[in-house]
Amino acid sequence: MMRRIFIFFFTAFLLAGTVRADEGMWLPALVGKMRYGDMRKNGLQIKASDLYDVNRSSLKDAIVLFGSGCTGEIVSDRGLLFTNHHCGYGQIQSHSSVEHDYLTDGFWARTPAEELPNPGLKVKILVRMDDVTKQALKGVTGQMTEPDRQAAVRRNNADIVAAATKGTRYEASVESFYYGNQYFLFVYEVFEDVRLVGAPPSSIGKFGGDTDNWMWPRHTGDFSIFRIYAGKDNKPASYSPDNVPYRPKQFFTISMAGADEGDFTFVYGFPGRTYEYITSDAVDYMVNRGNPHKIALRTIRLDIMTAEQERDAATRIMYASKHASVANAWKKWQGELNGIVRLDVAGRKRVLEEQFTAWAANKPEYGNVLPALEELYQGLDHFAFQRDYYLEAFAPIELTSFAGAFARTTTGEIDAAYTDRQRKAADEFFRNYSPTIDLATAIALLGAYNENCSYEPAVRNIFDRCIRPYGSIAGAVERMFNTSVFVSQDRVERLLALPADELRQKVDDDPAMALYRAFNGAYTTIFLPRYTELSARIELQYRTYMRGLMAMQKDRQFYPDANSTLRVAYGRVDGYKPADGVYYESHTTLDGVMEKDSPEIYDYDVPQRLRDLYAAKDYGRYAVDGTVPVAFIATNHTTGGNSGSPILNGRGELLGLNFDRTWESTMSDVKYDPSICRNISVDIRYVLFVIDRVAGAGYLLDEMRFAE
Ligand code: ARG
Ligand code: GLU
Repeated sequence: MMRRIFIFFFTAFLLAGTVRADEGMWLPALVGKMRYGDMRKNGLQIKASDLYDVNRSSLKDAIVLFGSGCTGEIVSDRGLLFTNHHCGYGQIQSHSSVEHDYLTDGFWARTPAEELPNPGLKVKILVRMDDVTKQALKGVTGQMTEPDRQAAVRRNNADIVAAATKGTRYEASVESFYYGNQYFLFVYEVFEDVRLVGAPPSSIGKFGGDTDNWMWPRHTGDFSIFRIYAGKDNKPASYSPDNVPYRPKQFFTISMAGADEGDFTFVYGFPGRTYEYITSDAVDYMVNRGNPHKIALRTIRLDIMTAEQERDAATRIMYASKHASVANAWKKWQGELNGIVRLDVAGRKRVLEEQFTAWAANKPEYGNVLPALEELYQGLDHFAFQRDYYLEAFAPIELTSFAGAFARTTTGEIDAAYTDRQRKAADEFFRNYSPTIDLATAIALLGAYNENCSYEPAVRNIFDRCIRPYGSIAGAVERMFNTSVFVSQDRVERLLALPADELRQKVDDDPAMALYRAFNGAYTTIFLPRYTELSARIELQYRTYMRGLMAMQKDRQFYPDANSTLRVAYGRVDGYKPADGVYYESHTTLDGVMEKDSPEIYDYDVPQRLRDLYAAKDYGRYAVDGTVPVAFIATNHTTGGNSGSPILNGRGELLGLNFDRTWESTMSDVKYDPSICRNISVDIRYVLFVIDRVAGAGYLLDEMRFAE
């Protein structure tokens, strides 16, 4: 018995030492060279060239950058595409009306003719990526100033892009890696005719809403379905009814087997931004200044919004989307802050920096970089703080930002086309606008602004000039809301009926305009330029620091920070311990959806059809152990932008769609911790169950390919 226990612990120890790779977002063209052995050891069964190849088709050909900030994957030879419900939300909303409320009821195209075009929506597929560091740095010398270097690199990159796209319809860009130590060219094929094929009702696609957002255990069917269309030659084409479904070079096979605890998985997608190599000074700013203030400012806004939304049903709907987007980062920042403090990320970084300082002592190239960064961060602090306040305490005031945007239009011709455009803009704005919320928000935000930022003379001056004459912040704001033309659609209508000169004059004299001009002026002429300039100098120091780190830690493989380029992350399905005495399992099921079911609570109101299927246990081929799998977590290192990414098994088969991270792991943008960081995916079997059994759109499955 002892012996067996000993062996158990011994193997557990060995596994712990060797298996946990988990961290990192790797470039597909390099993953073969850098990580293939490790991926293999952990459960990958396909060749490196199956992941990425330029000469024949590979999995990368089935992955798209969806819109500007999500990922999608192709699942049929007719260009059928999966992404998240929250990624397709804008499109689903844009096709919705009171008569056809697809957000509430879901949408299913029964025939190709019913698939809905989405002007403006693009998807990009990576054709190839190349290391172009040499060409990008042609003519660059160590003596150059940073602006000169940037100009040279920009010129070189324009040439590289021109050469890569010449005679093709491709789009290309050169991106900087490791703070400008390396450059890669990315060539994309860009499709512009992407149609909506299906979406579950929000009560499935957004089940749990903001309450469950960033949380585990989760029960959201966060998926929507699109289709890529191309010209008859299978090349990208602008929308035309004559376009045909795109025939992809590759599409994903769907696994019906799921993944168990411990199974290898990888995520292939477009992560947005991470900051893994920042110094302790940057972390200190996040922890002590940036995040706490930004969180507090959003708490103010959310409290006001929520109270008003609870008071009035129309306002609840009007502010649903605004509330969701304010709450998303607000909640993420809190998780991030907790994680960074709990892990003592700043302390750990200081240890690394001491090591670096000792190592760099006799190396003139690196000796000065950390002191230089420290000094630059000291200088940046003030401007970063003022910038945060402008963006989080002034920019969110809807009246002034609407006035500012309106004013920018009055510099051009004021004719019938102009008034038409502005009338539409006003329509858009007032459709979802509550002056009650905005007024209360403006008073509260400006109060916080004054309290925290008036130590800066330029800000104090604004409050002295624009607020003090009216007695108090509340007095000044109330007067502004009483007299501004931008506060109601009626007044904007009357404004638009005025002759051009009077219109300009009235916009110019508006109190909301005056306040906008004051704050925006200080921001764009003082804070932003200094912030930008210091950030560029910081970037330059990081270039040296990064190179030094790589020279110091010769055996470490450094993955580049995310920058919205295609990456591979890998790990395994795994539960975790969020707190003392608590363990979270790795899988959730339909039983959990029903446990949360609560008709009175908007976020948890399960659709009746799903209740009926549950009551009848009518799960068909989607039944697993008497229920239906819904979501699962794994150790893949992901971030915003990975939404909709395929999560794949060792054979490269589709297990599900990534859609979130756990609250405890949001700090992985700065520091990844394998014991607690988990990405959240919806199980593909739940997606199929909803399509087939809940929506009755099983015909869509006919074009998919399955592995048992
Ligand atoms: N937290 C996820 C992400 O960062 C999902 C956001 C959308 N869902 C929501 N309930 N607001 O994008
Ligand atoms: N929901 C996020 C997205 O839209 C993914 C969650 C994350 O940040 O990992 O990309």
